[in-house]
Amino acid sequence: MSLIIKVDPINFKPEDLFPAAEVIKKGGTVAFPTETVYGLGADAFNGNACLKIFKIKKRQPDNPLIVHISSFEQLYNVASEVKNEDKLKKVWPGPLTVVLKKKPSVPKEVTAGLDTVAVRMPAHPVALKLIEISGTPIAAPSANISGKPSPTSGKTVIEELNGLADVIIDAGETFFGVESTIVDITRDPPVLLRPGPFTVEELRSIFTSIKVPPEVSGLYDFEKPLAPGMKYKHYAPEKDLYLLLDNSSLPEIIKKIDKRVAVLVTEENYEKIKDLASKNVTFIILGTESNLYTVAKNLFEALRKIDKLDVEFGIIQSFKEEGIGLAIMNRIRKASGRKFITSYPF
Ligand code: TXA
Ligand code: MG
Repeated sequence: MSLIIKVDPINFKPEDLFPAAEVIKKGGTVAFPTETVYGLGADAFNGNACLKIFKIKKRQPDNPLIVHISSFEQLYNVASEVKNEDKLKKVWPGPLTVVLKKKPSVPKEVTAGLDTVAVRMPAHPVALKLIEISGTPIAAPSANISGKPSPTSGKTVIEELNGLADVIIDAGETFFGVESTIVDITRDPPVLLRPGPFTVEELRSIFTSIKVPPEVSGLYDFEKPLAPGMKYKHYAPEKDLYLLLDNSSLPEIIKKIDKRVAVLVTEENYEKIKDLASKNVTFIILGTESNLYTVAKNLFEALRKIDKLDVEFGIIQSFKEEGIGLAIMNRIRKASGRKFITSYPF
């Protein structure tokens, strides 16, 4: 059994986190909340402690971890040529990870042998306090078994990692629900590696020019992935998930469905089709079209729900690739294993 520490995400006492910080200092593993998704962390300067993360998650050793910091002092301890410091001060703490040249003191287990390190300062009071009282940066990937959707609630982390992580800090739901945006700022102009809550539009306002390669759509497999983690299957439910390319065909599809199916749609689309559905259809409401951050927040729990329901497969609607919509489409294209549909049956 893991030690489970339940705290309020905002009104907690630092003492509540002392046992978790002790575990980090001694080379153990702690699952903790961030504003994006939960992370599974260990002391970033302790290679053996970080190896435990790979073992627990069944993560491929060539997939590096993100180093989480609580101060700029820690940034200078992990990164060598820190560029754009003024800009980082504007965006941190926040859901943006940057790739920088690494310091030799960062163990190879963390960076999977690369000469760069991915760093971010998370905007979650519990994460910041945990890093601060541990007295060391914390390396952490998302707190899921590799290939599964990232956990966005303490409850899901407990289901997934109880008995595997030494400590689980349960602070309820995370704020954004999809993983941080990753930008490689060793390159000029900086290159977007993974879309996330910090949008391309916001990135452009900070960094002026940003390269957005076609890979970030999640549409293709590439021989040489942008970031090592991108070549692995991600976010997927066990059951099949089909991505509907054109939402205007939803009413027609819903009328025809003759199998037990989960249909993942926004409130607006649900209102349009609910009266057309047979008993075979279970709706999972993702949020509202008027604010796609609501969809991002619910997405991964919704994907996990498909496996829990008595349905054969899931169908999910598509979203406009603007703002956070780019990250949502990236995740659902991958979650569907790129099974795209335009009609039913298919
Ligand atoms: O929101 C998040 O980013 C969460 C929370 C816990 O902070 N973390 C997260 O970590 O999503 P993970 O391991 O699931 O995704 C990290 C991604 C992987 O695709 C990995 O390949 C990439 O970051 N990455 C890590 N270090 C890198 C580097 N030096 N260069 C390029 N990509 C890197
Ligand atoms: Mg992950």
